[in-house]
Amino acid sequence: MRNGRKIEKMEKQEGGRWASAYAQRLLYETLLYDTMGAMKNFWDGLKRPIFAVAPMANVTDEAFRRMFAECGRPTVFWTEFVSVEGLLSSGKEHLLPDLWFEKDEHPIVAQIFGAKPEQFAPAAEIIYKLGFDGIDINMGCPDRAVEKQGAGAALIKQPELAKQIIRATKEGAHGLPVSVKTRIGYTKNQLAEWLPALLEEDLAALTVHLRTRSEMSKVAAHWELAPEVVALRDRYAPKTVAIGNGDVASLDDARMKTKASGLDGIMIGRGIFGNPWFFGGATPTVREKIERLVRHTEVFESLYKSDLTKKEGKIKNFEVMKKHYKAYANGFDGAKELRIRLMDAESAAEVKAVAEEFLTGTHKEPADVDPALP
Ligand SMILES: Cc1cc2nc3c(=O)[nH]c(=O)nc-3n(C[C@H](O)[C@H](O)[C@H](O)COP(=O)(O)O)c2cc1C
Repeated sequence: MRNGRKIEKMEKQEGGRWASAYAQRLLYETLLYDTMGAMKNFWDGLKRPIFAVAPMANVTDEAFRRMFAECGRPTVFWTEFVSVEGLLSSGKEHLLPDLWFEKDEHPIVAQIFGAKPEQFAPAAEIIYKLGFDGIDINMGCPDRAVEKQGAGAALIKQPELAKQIIRATKEGAHGLPVSVKTRIGYTKNQLAEWLPALLEEDLAALTVHLRTRSEMSKVAAHWELAPEVVALRDRYAPKTVAIGNGDVASLDDARMKTKASGLDGIMIGRGIFGNPWFFGGATPTVREKIERLVRHTEVFESLYKSDLTKKEGKIKNFEVMKKHYKAYANGFDGAKELRIRLMDAESAAEVKAVAEEFLTGTHKEPADVDPALP
């Protein structure tokens, strides 16, 4: 059951301000999980090493997270980032689908971004009411539109403002653990100044993408700096969970990096594209990959197609699925042709038809191939 019940409660409390056709739809859904443990710091009870799904806008949405719930869970889920300003605006119902989750995705952390401290307490309150286990503040996003607001990576240049934002978030969080995701610096390694400023705020967790803002994702992540992150954490806030991020390609790689650095965990971004088996450790067959891309599409369509607030009836654009197809249909015979055909599809039914044609026509698993053939 999705966390729609929370919307219903909010709607009542706020005298119908949340009333919208979209919210009405959510009223039919029930939530069994009821902020249980909300006052507890869930990070304390997690088995080490911690493996987290990175927040990735238009990638780690509810449809993709369902695939991990089915194929192999991470230790902790993260949502895509959501603007605090947007959450407090009249258009908030368009953002709420980014905060949907189901009860088997606990523990799940909602990521928010913004630059005005006064917006963080009421936004944290919304996150709390939606039943999340934690709140993460984005202080690393290099996107121009985000930075222009003074948010994301721009906060690395404003440590005092970053501190105010953390305090304001805690005020509205009802005891939910508050964490930050950031980078090693803006144009150079600033760990020695930037991390203490954050750690002094007694964060529940701190994720460091081991690149500067200027490096974007263009150079290799600086894993040689991970021990410095751990040393700063040990010195300034030994209880804060330290997570490293950048270029981790497999679970073995993640295990090796936690061991070598002393970090509590690893967050994985691009390494999970097209690979919901990442955390479970299974190696899918070609058939499984293709059946999974169909299933992913069906879940995507069932979640996001019908939006009563919009005439055209879509919450998320079907194009979002295309980057997943590039990743699922990769590394096997005929993958390129399959990808090309999938790029033209516009519905789950079309994707299924293309996939079935591939599986029944040209494709054979290595084990299906007649060994007598030359
Ligand atoms: C398509 C895409 C969207 C992203 N969106 C977010 C986001 O919403 N919030 C965030 O903190 N980082 C975001 N990131 C950054 C990732 O969380 C992660 O820090 C980065 O990809 C490096 O990790 P990786 O090398 O494992 O991919 C995004 C990255 C990608 C590729």
